Amino acid sequence: MVAFFEEMVNRPYREHSDTPPWRSEIIETPYVPHHTNAILQKGRVNFENGYKGLTPEDLVLIYCNYMMQMHVATSYQVLTIASSLFGTAFARSNDVVTVDFGCGPLTWGVALAWYYLGLGGQADPADRLCLRYIGLDQSKAVLKTGDDDGQVPSAIRTSATKQRLVWEQPQR
Ligand SMILES: C[S@@+](CC[C@H](N)C(=O)[O-])C[C@H]1O[C@@H](n2cnc3c(N)ncnc32)[C@H](O)[C@@H]1O
Repeated sequence: MVAFFEEMVNRPYREHSDTPPWRSEIIETPYVPHHTNAILQKGRVNFENGYKGLTPEDLVLIYCNYMMQMHVATSYQVLTIASSLFGTAFARSNDVVTVDFGCGPLTWGVALAWYYLGLGGQADPADRLCLRYIGLDQSKAVLKTGDDDGQVPSAIRTSATKQRLVWEQPQR
């Protein structure tokens, strides 16, 4: 999991191109509360709106750097504590579908993958983890994260990632 986050989040964050908004909001303002409270609004940010020149994709990367990793770790703990409830069904059965409303950058899917891979390993491709996972989110930028076959490590690549949908807000 450490290697996964290094590849998907931490290195892209460290090596982000030095755009003027990234310089002023991240590099020259290296305060965690500024990043988590002002920019991410404690997780309630609408990624699509951007922030002072930061793009939706920038906001998603900042979210992944601070909050996704925290949520994956706590979700993993929940799965471990409630292991008798989760068993192996989610990873092996065609009958169980996980629907994740407000899925963000596949946070819960990554936690499920981490948990089930830890239980069973993945030596044989035939035994590949098969999560049936549908993620819904209003943000196109956040849904793009982790949805690229070229970047998602094969250990957690699932056909289910293809089923993630953009949840459009109804017009009022
Ligand atoms: C705090 S983030 C949580 C993301 C993910 N579940 C996690 O634990 O990292 C909230 C997510 O809900 C999405 N969201 C907020 N309101 C929504 C709505 N009305 N419909 C769909 N998604 C929504 C946001 O775009 C964001 O990705």
